[in-house]
Amino acid sequence: MTHLRSKTCTVFLILLFLFLHCVSLVVSLGGDYEILIRVKNGQLDDPNGSLNHWVSNGDSNPCNWTGVNCDPQKFAVSSIDLSVLGISGGFPFDFCRIQTLQNLSLSGNYFNGSLQSQHLSLCSHLRLLNLSSNLFVGQLPEFSQEFTELEVLDLSNNKFTGDIPASFGQFPSLRVLALTANLLSGSIPSFLGNLSELTRFELGCNPFKPSPLLPEIGNLKKLENLWLAGSNLNGHIPNSIGKLVSLKNLDLSNNSLSGEIPGSIGGLKSVEEIKLYENQLSGGLPESIANLTSLLRLDVSENSLTGKLSEKIAAMPLICLSLTDNFFEGEIPEVLASNPNLQQLKLFNNSFSGKLPENLGKFSDLEDFDVSTNNFTDGLPKFLCYRKKLQHLIAFNNRLSGSLPESYGECDSLSYVMIENNELSGAVPSGFWSLPLLEFLEMHNNRLEGSLPRSISLARHLNKILISGNDFNGEIPSEICQLNGLLVIDFSKNRFSGELPTCVTGLNNLQKLRMQDNMLSGEIPSSVGSWTDLTELNLARNRFSGKIPSELGNLPMLKYLDLSGNLLSGGIPVALTKLKLNEFNLSDNKLYGKVPPGFSKDWYLSSILGNKELCSSNLNPLPPCSKPKLASLYIVVILAVCAVLLLGSLVWIFKTKCHAFGGKSKRPWEIISFQRIAFNEVDIIPQLKEENVIGAGGSGRVYRVTLKKGQIVAVKRLWGDTINLDSEAVFRSEVETLGRIRHSNILKLLLSCSGEDRRMLVYEYMANGSFGDMLHGEKGGGLLDWPRRLAIALGAAQGLAYLHHDCVPAIVHRDVKSNNILLDEEWKPRVADFGLAKTLHLEVGEGAGSMSRVAGSYGYIAPAEITRNKQ
Ligand SMILES: *[C@@H]1O[C@H](CO)[C@@H](O)[C@H](O)[C@H]1NC(C)=O
Ligand SMILES: *[C@@H]1O[C@H](CO)[C@@H](O)[C@H](O)[C@H]1NC(C)=O
Ligand SMILES: *[C@@H]1O[C@H](CO)[C@@H](O)[C@H](O)[C@H]1NC(C)=O
Ligand SMILES: *[C@@H]1O[C@H](CO)[C@@H](O)[C@H](O)[C@H]1NC(C)=O
Ligand SMILES: *[C@@H]1O[C@H](CO)[C@@H](O)[C@H](O)[C@H]1NC(C)=O
Ligand SMILES: *[C@@H]1O[C@H](CO)[C@@H](O)[C@H](O)[C@H]1NC(C)=O
Ligand SMILES: *[C@@H]1O[C@H](CO)[C@@H](O)[C@H](O)[C@H]1NC(C)=O
Ligand SMILES: *[C@@H]1O[C@H](CO)[C@@H](O)[C@H](O)[C@H]1NC(C)=O
Ligand SMILES: *[C@@H]1O[C@H](CO)[C@@H](O)[C@H](O)[C@H]1NC(C)=O
Ligand SMILES: *[C@@H]1O[C@H](CO)[C@@H](O)[C@H](O)[C@H]1NC(C)=O
Repeated sequence: MTHLRSKTCTVFLILLFLFLHCVSLVVSLGGDYEILIRVKNGQLDDPNGSLNHWVSNGDSNPCNWTGVNCDPQKFAVSSIDLSVLGISGGFPFDFCRIQTLQNLSLSGNYFNGSLQSQHLSLCSHLRLLNLSSNLFVGQLPEFSQEFTELEVLDLSNNKFTGDIPASFGQFPSLRVLALTANLLSGSIPSFLGNLSELTRFELGCNPFKPSPLLPEIGNLKKLENLWLAGSNLNGHIPNSIGKLVSLKNLDLSNNSLSGEIPGSIGGLKSVEEIKLYENQLSGGLPESIANLTSLLRLDVSENSLTGKLSEKIAAMPLICLSLTDNFFEGEIPEVLASNPNLQQLKLFNNSFSGKLPENLGKFSDLEDFDVSTNNFTDGLPKFLCYRKKLQHLIAFNNRLSGSLPESYGECDSLSYVMIENNELSGAVPSGFWSLPLLEFLEMHNNRLEGSLPRSISLARHLNKILISGNDFNGEIPSEICQLNGLLVIDFSKNRFSGELPTCVTGLNNLQKLRMQDNMLSGEIPSSVGSWTDLTELNLARNRFSGKIPSELGNLPMLKYLDLSGNLLSGGIPVALTKLKLNEFNLSDNKLYGKVPPGFSKDWYLSSILGNKELCSSNLNPLPPCSKPKLASLYIVVILAVCAVLLLGSLVWIFKTKCHAFGGKSKRPWEIISFQRIAFNEVDIIPQLKEENVIGAGGSGRVYRVTLKKGQIVAVKRLWGDTINLDSEAVFRSEVETLGRIRHSNILKLLLSCSGEDRRMLVYEYMANGSFGDMLHGEKGGGLLDWPRRLAIALGAAQGLAYLHHDCVPAIVHRDVKSNNILLDEEWKPRVADFGLAKTLHLEVGEGAGSMSRVAGSYGYIAPAEITRNKQ
């Protein structure tokens, strides 16, 4: 019984114990639960409702609430992590009333206000306090000596000010101290050197008082990360730094450290990354760096380092070597190329010289190659893109020569090419123009040659193509218009010819178009409406002709317009006065007419000089504009003179009797039309009236006839009731020769009509009369400056060359003279008057002999014929 009773008692006691244990668990969690709810309701502002689950539920268990973690053994809240939930409020110190809480992280929210030491003292049992990236202000709080457990303290990215309190040197267990990116303004205190457990020491980006790096830093034997970038450090790097045998990342960049890099740095035997850029370090790279067998990245750019890159350092298996913006010199050891890890090589802005390592790129996945602004010579290494990883090929401002290696044409990974200002020559590998990821292609100021392939359309990501100052030639392929991302095109100072593809106006992101100093011809495209971002248009010193499109005046961003040194004609469009230009140049063209009032200011004068026929009433060296009525009268006079002279020459040539035309036709008209025309003789005959006569000559009269649709033609009506032989010969000759040729420099015969005793020839109308009249007429050649004369001579020569070389059988005009060269409204010449022309059927026994008759007007006979005639 007793035994049984005692047994029952034991069971009871056990049950009681279990019950009480459960109650204590519930009480414990119940307490945590109440604290959490109380903090949520009383201290947190949660506009996004991130903590909406934090509500009373039946079992009062908060363990799976957002951000709450419990110890699975003890059923107690061990961590609260409310990172990045959009919460605000003051520091919710009441969370620390949860005695089992170890980690409190409130990072990335909008907590504000200051941290009070007395509130913080509740949290002395914490192991981790992460308040980074909030809006805390004020002094850093003192931490009482009770914070013996604290391992991680992250207060970075807030607005804490002032000094680092002395209590920060007394955390016995602190492994991580992160105070980066605050507004701390004292100096970095030496007592931090007492934190012997530290692995991460991160105080960078604070406006500390300028002071040296404390030598006590060397005491932190367990340190793995030392991040003191942008901390106003000055003076030398302490020798003690070499004692940091566990250090993996050393970042002292963006300070004012001076003196030499201590040789002791070779003691950082675990170091993987050294960043010393943006300081004032001098001297050479210590050889001991070569001992750092774990080092993968070395960046000492933007210092004043000198000396050479040693063989030993060059042989290190670094992933990244950056020596930019220093004063290094000498050659790069070839051994650098055998580094199997090398991905980034940056040597920009030093005085390195000699040949680049020949095998660079052959043994590693080189991505980033920047050797610009040095004194390198010889060729670019041909294996740079051997592993097809190269993204940046940057080598501008050197003295590199030779041609671009053919293999670069297959470097599909390339996005930046900047190889300008070298002595590179030869043709560019054709694939190089069509690399699919290429964004920047800058090759200006070399001696590269060849033409742009149509496949340039494949370089779909191209933003900038700068190839000025080379020897590129040929036409600009219209495929370039498919590169819609283009912002800047600079093809200036090459030998590009042909027309500028009209479709370039479709490049609606274009900001700069520079084509100056080429040999481009044709007209300036006028459909420029989509050039809404264009700031600069430079077409200077080419052979553009036609009118300046007035649409240019609508470009909203245009600041720089240079069309000087072309063959542009017509007036200066008034619309251009709408532009607000910093640079404006239309000089040395063939513009004529009145300068728009907006440009009639002295400071525009140099922008329009060299256009002989511009006039203005108030711009001094320009002639005043004559009244419009007088001007037209003047033209009438000139035309009349032309007509008279034309008549004279016709008389001279044909020496035939004058007869009126218009008798009844005795047999039906024979009509031949030589061009596709929309009129016939019925439209013309009524117009052959006295008032339409513009000339008369030996073989007939010339009329100017305006047809129904406004088209103007010239009609030559040959004399004669009785057909004399000469007149008949002239008619036949014109019909046979002119009727079968098509050339832009030869007058077009549109239609011929012949009846029994009358004949009529219809030509295109030449508004500017004959070249002879222009030269010797009333104006005495005043309208014709030398470039225009040259253009007329060239045009006429092209017409004749066509007759001689391209016509089968060849045609000899036999009366080439200025009076037989007519000028259209744009002063383009047409060879005319084929009345004496002869078709050369070069059969055996025929040839020079068949031309023994002296034909044409004296003074214009070929010298050989004169000689023969004298004999
Ligand atoms: C955790 O939360 C889910 C719903 O969010 C709920 O179904 C589950 O019962 C909770 N578990 C505990 C242990 O509270
Ligand atoms: C607290 O943080 C430390 C360091 O990040 C971590 O190792 C530990 O697991 C965390 N403890 C809890 C309970 O979350
Ligand atoms: C909170 O909500 C705002 C607006 O609804 C949103 O912009 C913000 O990203 C949210 N923040 C978080 C942490 O969810
Ligand atoms: C603090 O929290 C943020 C956000 O979760 C995190 O990125 C950061 O690494 C944490 N700090 C430390 C020292 O763990
Ligand atoms: C904290 O921010 C709230 C608004 O989010 C503001 O009302 C309060 O004044 C701020 N507190 C401090 C101390 O700046
Ligand atoms: C740092 O530690 C040394 C001894 O290791 C001690 O003398 C000194 O007072 C400590 N400094 C601070 C500020 O605690
Ligand atoms: C360098 O540090 C200063 C503060 O000392 C900071 O303002 C600046 O942004 C930093 N520059 C870079 C490139 O990090
Ligand atoms: C490190 O480099 C220095 C100088 O190059 C050399 O004297 C030394 O033997 C190397 N090895 C170690 C372990 O320091
Ligand atoms: C080249 O480096 C020197 C010295 O660091 C610097 O003064 C200069 O501005 C740099 N030149 C260029 C073009 O960056
Ligand atoms: C480049 O080298 C030439 C001759 O080798 C020398 O005259 C010149 O000063 C050097 N230029 C630079 C920038 O180092």
